[in-house]
Amino acid sequence: MMNVQRLPAEQQYQQQLNALREADTFAKPVGWQLSPKMVRTFILGSDQPIAGQTITRKIYGNDAAVERAIVTLLGQQGLLLVGEPGTAKSLLSELLTAAISGNSTLTVQGSAGLFEENIRYSWNYAALLKSGPTLEAMVPGPLYQSMKNGAIMRFEELTRCPTEVQDSLIPVLSDRILHVPEIQNEQNYLLSQPGFNIIATANLNDRGVNQISSALKRRFNFETLKPLAQRKDRIELVLGQVNDRLEHDDIGLRLDQDTATLLVTVFDELKSGTVAGIAIDSPSTLLSVPEAINLAVHAAMQCHYFGEQAITPAHLATYLQGAVIKDNQKDEACLQDYLRVIKRKRSDDPLWQSFLEGCRNAGC
Ligand SMILES: Nc1ncnc2c1ncn2[C@@H]1O[C@H](COP(=O)(O)OP(=O)(O)OP(=O)(O)O)[C@@H](O)[C@H]1O
Ligand SMILES: [Mg+2]
Repeated sequence: MMNVQRLPAEQQYQQQLNALREADTFAKPVGWQLSPKMVRTFILGSDQPIAGQTITRKIYGNDAAVERAIVTLLGQQGLLLVGEPGTAKSLLSELLTAAISGNSTLTVQGSAGLFEENIRYSWNYAALLKSGPTLEAMVPGPLYQSMKNGAIMRFEELTRCPTEVQDSLIPVLSDRILHVPEIQNEQNYLLSQPGFNIIATANLNDRGVNQISSALKRRFNFETLKPLAQRKDRIELVLGQVNDRLEHDDIGLRLDQDTATLLVTVFDELKSGTVAGIAIDSPSTLLSVPEAINLAVHAAMQCHYFGEQAITPAHLATYLQGAVIKDNQKDEACLQDYLRVIKRKRSDDPLWQSFLEGCRNAGC
């Protein structure tokens, strides 16, 4: 496999996608590389190997939302995935495009500095000066390419870009046509091929940064991804993701079940503001599953590169301050409150002792 930091989903899961394609005997919509049933299996996994290949579960805890998302993409509306930060909106959008179009890289990243040209098409100025606005001088953007190839375009963080830029999607979603008014002697519009659609994501914490116009809202079907409700799913996800990353980076250490459970417990208790039945102030920081995964990966890196034998709660504690206290000093008091309760209630337990020792050494 290529030596890069991270592969797009269609390359990372190439073997699984090939096996699903081989075994796919179900009805397939025009322009789709897999049937909706196999897209679902790719994302939610399968108990039995398919064409000799294990199909792993990639999204946990939102099965009904995943199914509805696939069905939305069969229709004429776009799909808008909304939810708290870290609820796998971007991951689901990448997996859907990898499975349906075989390409998850036709992506626009929403930001305040995004212009319409970054989405639809722009011009090669040397060619423009030489031959005027022709198809040859045009530089197709992700939207143009997706419409032309009948693929799905991803629009990340839709609400971070200005409303008027968002609204440039309206004619495309309703009439499935992209006008290129600059072109004069050739066809100056593009009709989308079957298989084209748009998956956008929007973070609920960004609500109100740039409103989505009601006209655009009507052209998207909203699907909310929820944080994982089951504690055992959160633990399994942290364990699986951390150990996969360590394997990918050729690091021999592994996070064990007890240490992962302690980490998820710390995050849950700080987030909920209750520990051992006692109410504490909750920090303002977002303590999501991806934050826990990153914290554990940092602890593992420290152990590996500074020559330690195992990832212990003390190592996790070293990075807790960085995860909890970002730009609000009040969060420091919340963390100290929490640690005081842990000390009173759990200092008999060796795992929690190790955690408290790590916190002491880290100065919290
Ligand atoms: N339900 C879940 N199933 C699988 N992975 C999850 C789930 N929730 C969180 N994750 C993990 O969280 C990581 C980050 O998710 P992702 O970046 O897709 O979130 P997001 O909702 O797009 O966040 P943001 O709003 O900050 O952009 C994923 O790569 C995955 O490791
Ligand atoms: Mg995202």
